[in-house]
Amino acid sequence: MKDLVLVTGGTGYIGSHTAVELIEGGYDVVIVDNLDNSTLETLDGIEKITGIRPAFEKFDLCDKDRVSQFFIKYPQLKAIIHFAAHKAVGESVEKPLKYYHNNLSSLINLIHFMDRHNVDNLVFSSSCTVYGQPRELPVTESAPTLPAESPYGNTKQICEEIICDSMRALPKLKSIALRYFNPIGAHPTGHIGELPMGVPNNLVPFITQTAAGIHQSLKVYGSDYNTPDGSAIRDYINVNDLARAHVVAISRLLNKENRSNYEFFNLGTGTGTSVLEMIRTFHKVTGISINYKIVDRREGDIEKVWADTRFANEELGWKATRTLEETLSSAWNWEKNLRGIK
Ligand code: UD1
Repeated sequence: MKDLVLVTGGTGYIGSHTAVELIEGGYDVVIVDNLDNSTLETLDGIEKITGIRPAFEKFDLCDKDRVSQFFIKYPQLKAIIHFAAHKAVGESVEKPLKYYHNNLSSLINLIHFMDRHNVDNLVFSSSCTVYGQPRELPVTESAPTLPAESPYGNTKQICEEIICDSMRALPKLKSIALRYFNPIGAHPTGHIGELPMGVPNNLVPFITQTAAGIHQSLKVYGSDYNTPDGSAIRDYINVNDLARAHVVAISRLLNKENRSNYEFFNLGTGTGTSVLEMIRTFHKVTGISINYKIVDRREGDIEKVWADTRFANEELGWKATRTLEETLSSAWNWEKNLRGIK
C-alpha cells in the first residue's frame, strides 16, 4: 500500500510540482486547495505528466469544521506538506490581518487535527526571508532569524515558532521546515508552472511576460547595491529540484531518520545571481533581449542572499542539480505554452 500524503496548496506553483514528484516517488497524493490563487487546470497538468489524477478537496483550511471532516474522510493519511498560504509581500503590508489570519489559522487547524488523528508528520513551506539580510554569506541554518520586513515574512517566522513549540509539546509529532530561496522555472514538459494572478511581483514571471509582449519593459529595482554590477543578488532554485527535496523530507520523517522532531533546512543552489545577470542569461538561452529600466530600490528588498547548502546536501542527501540556463529555458517554455507562442 502506498503512503498517502496531503499536499495543501497543491494546485499552486510549488505544490503542484511537489505533487508530481510525490506521485513519481510512489506516494498517493490528496490535494486541498481553496483555489484562491490557482486553478483546477493544474490537476490536468499533473495528470498529463504522471498519468494519475490526485484526489482533490476544495475548501479553506481556516474552516475548522472542514478540516475536521477531512481528517475523518482520510484516516489512512500519513503525512502533510503544508504550502497553502498567502505570499504577496506588498499585499501583506496593506492587509496584514488577511495574512496573519490565513497563514496562522490554517497551520493551527492542521496541527490540532494531526494530533487528534495520529498523523505524525508535517513538512512546512518556509522561506529564507526569516534571515532578513544575513551578516554572513552564504547563509547557514545557524544564522539568526531577524525581525521580518513584512507581515508575510513574519507569518513564516511565527509559523515556524508555532511548529517548534507544538513539536515540543506533542513529541509524537515530527516536522521539517524547508526554507526556500527563490524558486523559479517550470516542469520540463511545460504542463505545469507558475501562474501569477495579475501583474507578477516576482522577477522571473515578469521577465517571461515581458518576453511574451505583455509588458513593455522590466523595472530593475536598484543599481546601487554593494554587488559587482549594483543589482540585487538572490539564489534562484529550480522548482523541480525544490519539489524533490520535499519528497526526501517526507521519506526522512516516515522512515524516522530525523535527528530531532523539529528540523529546518535551507533549500537553495549555493550560488547568487544578480538581476542583471538573470536578464543576460535569459537572453543567452532564448535569444530574447528584455527591455529594462533601472529604477529605485524596492522597499523591503535586501541586497544579497544565497544559501549555504551543505546541511541539506549532507543530512538530506539532496542537492539542486539543474542549471540556471535550463531553469530559465523551462520558465520560457511554460510561458509560451500558456500564451500559445510557437
Ligand atoms: C520575496 C521574498 C520571499 C517570498 C517571495 C514571494 C524576501 C527576501 N524574499 O522574494 O520570501 O517567498 O518574495 O513573493 O523577502 N526584481 C526586479 N524587478 C521586478 C521584480 C523583482 O528588479 O519586476 C528584483 C527584486 O528587487 C529582487 C529580485 O528581483 O532583487 C528577486 O525578486 P522577487 O522575485 O520578487 O523575489 P524576492 O523579493 O527575493
